[in-house]
Amino acid sequence: MRIPCWTMREKSRIAVLASGRGSNFEALARACLDCDYPAAVVVLITDNPEAGAVSIADSFNIEHVAVDCGPKKGSMSPESSEKITAVCAAHKIDVVCLAGFMRIVKGALMAAYRGRMLNIHPALLPSFRGLDAQRQALEFGVRWSGCTVHFVDEGVDSGAIILQRIVPVRSDDTVESLSERILREEHVAYPEAVRFYATGRLRVEGRRVIIREGV
Ligand code: GAR
Repeated sequence: MRIPCWTMREKSRIAVLASGRGSNFEALARACLDCDYPAAVVVLITDNPEAGAVSIADSFNIEHVAVDCGPKKGSMSPESSEKITAVCAAHKIDVVCLAGFMRIVKGALMAAYRGRMLNIHPALLPSFRGLDAQRQALEFGVRWSGCTVHFVDEGVDSGAIILQRIVPVRSDDTVESLSERILREEHVAYPEAVRFYATGRLRVEGRRVIIREGV
């Protein structure tokens, strides 16, 4: 028997926050085209109106909103945090996905979406947090790297880990070649993690995220 596909009403409503190219946003938007996928991207919020993610949103017919997050690199002003929270509330957002959003989330947004906000990072956390993770991994000399999808907390790339995918680091790798290999895994990991979240299969016990077996 075929299980009926998810109706729009039942799907988890996603807001994606992105600052740049937007390939992870695109991977999520593409996954959401499948009527059996349990989530839908309803809005892109960006701190950079020039971001590549904006034209991707247009091509998927997804609404986009630009919010000025203030002049301080890597940080968001309290006003912008409130504004983003208001946009999420207006769109009845269930889950916020950070996808290359290059600011630390704090204030109203953190308070409103604690436990309902995910991030993807291009390293095997807890190694190589913060900026230039792929360069950090290469310079450290690790043999394996990868990506991590995790819940967002107040720290930098420090929340509970949902899933990770690994890639080998080759002797002739450059930052570019390693980043590209990791990115391919990111595009698999993020939709998969959102599926787990949206189907209610994740339970957090301290730092551990338990994934219940299921469809
Ligand atoms: C991705 O590699 C993502 O993991 C990384 O930024 C890139 C965004 O690419 N995020 C971080 O480093 C956050 N700490 P995209 O715009 O093509 O999705």
